[in-house]
Amino acid sequence: MTKKILVTGGMGYIGSHTVVELLQHGYEVVIADNLCNANISVLECMSTITQKRPTFYNIDVCDKEALSYLFEKEKPLDAVIHFAAHKAVAESVQKPLKYFYNNILPLLNLLECMLVADCSNIVFSSSATVYGDPDGLPVKETTAFKKALSAYGSTKQIGEDMLEKTSAAENIKVISLRYFNPVGAHESALIGELPLGTPNNLMPYITQTAIGKIKQLTVYGNDYDTADGTCIRDYIHVVDLAKAHVKSCERMLEDKMESRYEVFNIGTGIGCSVLELINSFETENKVQLNYTIGPRRAGDAAAIYADVSKANTVLQWRAEKNIRDMVKDSWRWEMKLHNAIPQKTT
Ligand code: UFG
Repeated sequence: MTKKILVTGGMGYIGSHTVVELLQHGYEVVIADNLCNANISVLECMSTITQKRPTFYNIDVCDKEALSYLFEKEKPLDAVIHFAAHKAVAESVQKPLKYFYNNILPLLNLLECMLVADCSNIVFSSSATVYGDPDGLPVKETTAFKKALSAYGSTKQIGEDMLEKTSAAENIKVISLRYFNPVGAHESALIGELPLGTPNNLMPYITQTAIGKIKQLTVYGNDYDTADGTCIRDYIHVVDLAKAHVKSCERMLEDKMESRYEVFNIGTGIGCSVLELINSFETENKVQLNYTIGPRRAGDAAAIYADVSKANTVLQWRAEKNIRDMVKDSWRWEMKLHNAIPQKTT
């Protein structure tokens, strides 16, 4: 029988790519999204790619009544993938309560609804931010958390803790996926990241500088203790990341979990510096970026990349796309946003 998955935040950047992969793998999908950081046109784009249509509820998952209604209407739900959350690290430092409210309350609501509806599987959108500035590299799932430097980071640590404790006491199984740095877009250029206002992350800064929307890109520091002096991150293509969610659903629904709470690092395992990313972008896309070296950004770790051996062997997932794919797909998406090239359909 077709399995039905509730995807909260399914209209967003990672959510929409995951919905596409789920539909392409034969799952039925129900989306709950309040469109606070997404556009309704994404629904049509997902349907164009997959020739299938997810069911869409325009609801805020902070609203328990609305969520209960959805669970009642859509029962039985086989699993939940929970993306709906705010994600701007700097904003979370300025407005911590906004983040505690919006990122914690929905998880509580979801778990309560799941218990009532007898839905016992949830995949949680966690983040490498839970590690803080780690002592050793690459980071393993067993690496100890450091104190979170932002409210956003706290909400991911708290979320994992809530889920681990709930899974120990209730009939709920959990897979937490700790994403490293998601970039790229669907190769069709029909879905991708739609950053509102000034971007928060490096890749949209790069593409918006290349297209001329932003005058100049600033590299935040070149005096770190790394090979070229700039920070090292583990960039992961959003389509690979989306596929890790499909693998997680399979693992849960086929009863393959070794314990009721499992956690996986989702990255490539390869560190890439800011200058390496810029150079690849320029080389692969044959564009020149106007960039300058500026001071360090507060709170940045010099280097962080994942040990992905657990995801490779246990989850049976492996990143398939490399930095070249990431910079090319990101650029194709930015150009599509500006109608610079005709749409490529899959
Ligand atoms: N950077 C620049 N210039 C910019 C933007 C970023 O040089 O204009 C640099 C940053 O200093 C950093 C690297 O690019 O060295 C990556 O920065 P991002 O802001 O893209 O990503 P972060 O690694 O800071 O944060 C990401 C996610 C968070 C998550 C964190 C976990 O955005 O949600 O990884 O490590 F919490």
